[in-house]
Amino acid sequence: MATIRIRNTGEWIEGDAAVRSYLTENDVYYDHWDVEQIPARLHNQFDLTDDDKNDILAAMKNDIENLSAQRGYVKWDIISLSDSNPNLEELLKKFEQVHTHSEDEVRAITAGSGIFVIKGKDGYFDVRLTPGDVISVPEGNPHFFTLTEERKVVAVRLFIDPAGWVAQPYDDPAFQKA
Ligand SMILES: [Fe+2]
Repeated sequence: MATIRIRNTGEWIEGDAAVRSYLTENDVYYDHWDVEQIPARLHNQFDLTDDDKNDILAAMKNDIENLSAQRGYVKWDIISLSDSNPNLEELLKKFEQVHTHSEDEVRAITAGSGIFVIKGKDGYFDVRLTPGDVISVPEGNPHFFTLTEERKVVAVRLFIDPAGWVAQPYDDPAFQKA
């Protein structure tokens, strides 16, 4: 279940109702999917073959299709990051820069954990996501994604137009590293 930390105040927001309400106030879509539908052999697996990725997508098919019908997503895939990726440090450095996109950034965490750092009405806040958490950062909203201390995640990504999904750097003097 997601938790939130507001960077300016250090305040934590925990519990489903409070987390949902804070994200809604900040125009961030949030939901929770039942990832127990995914085959058990993949619950803690971060080196995924194409077949593994297809098995995860097949297990989550109904949730993916429902969300896509509601919000206009037309394509989806699986991303996996862990220390077995030889370029993980470089990738994280590249990720940890505030940016925007011309469409939503949607992630459904299926294993491991991750953090979205998002610019909201109270300044930047961190949303820590665990398996089942589904989030959509709205188009044009400054943010970045990074890993937690466990440094591993598997997530479903959903797109309106994968060709248009490019990071635009957002140089924000208000942003302070945690
Ligand atoms: Fe992004």
